[in-house]
Amino acid sequence: MLGRMSKAPHRLFFDAWSRVYDLAPVQLAVYRPVHARVLRELASGDLKRLLDIGCGTGNLTSRLAQSARAELVAGCDFSFGMLEQAAAKRVPAAWLQGDAARLPIRDGSVDAVTSTDSFHWFPDPDGALAELRRVLRPGGRLIIAVVNPRLGATASLFRAGSTLLGEPARWPTRAELAQRMERAGFVVRSQQRVVRAAGIAFPTYVTVGVAPPSGAG
Ligand SMILES: C[S@@+](CC[C@H](N)C(=O)[O-])C[C@H]1O[C@@H](n2cnc3c(N)ncnc32)[C@H](O)[C@@H]1O
Repeated sequence: MLGRMSKAPHRLFFDAWSRVYDLAPVQLAVYRPVHARVLRELASGDLKRLLDIGCGTGNLTSRLAQSARAELVAGCDFSFGMLEQAAAKRVPAAWLQGDAARLPIRDGSVDAVTSTDSFHWFPDPDGALAELRRVLRPGGRLIIAVVNPRLGATASLFRAGSTLLGEPARWPTRAELAQRMERAGFVVRSQQRVVRAAGIAFPTYVTVGVAPPSGAG
């Protein structure tokens, strides 16, 4: 299912990137360690309806769809190029075209949302967090894996450099991400380091938040 066209101009950057995204060395060094950690995070709890936001070429989504416990798995991305590569994998997942801050998904219909190496690209991170909170059921889980620079100054430097290159990356520090998630209504449960190539310069953490159960504020 490829619906709803995004008008964001920077979508083209990701359409082009989708052509080389699945190269094995890149996947093994950069993305697979993160996916493995997120899959472990999903192993506990009653999590059957899963959304992978910023799913790219669908590598994590595919692994979610192949898990025996999942009943419904959707990968959502705003890049048609990425989604074409994902759909070609022919796994039992729904592929949705949409912006993280405007999801074509019903309120409270998802048990867990994953976002791996995509949050820093969202131009409206608070809008995206509010939207992810909206689609999660009470008690649902949000798992964000992203580079968290140690210092705000480093984050600003990365942002300035990437803006000069034409595609702003907003890597938040761990504290900033936790604050943003809490402002969006999540209870932050853990922030754990993932080891991968270039990990010293680009420390990556998996942050887990829970949408409060109904009636709990
Ligand atoms: C580095 S890729 C990560 C893909 C995948 N999660 C993985 O771990 O392999 C980042 C993805 O975020 C998507 N993305 C960026 N901004 C987005 C937005 N506002 N809404 C939805 N997807 C977005 C890009 O199109 C791209 O596919």
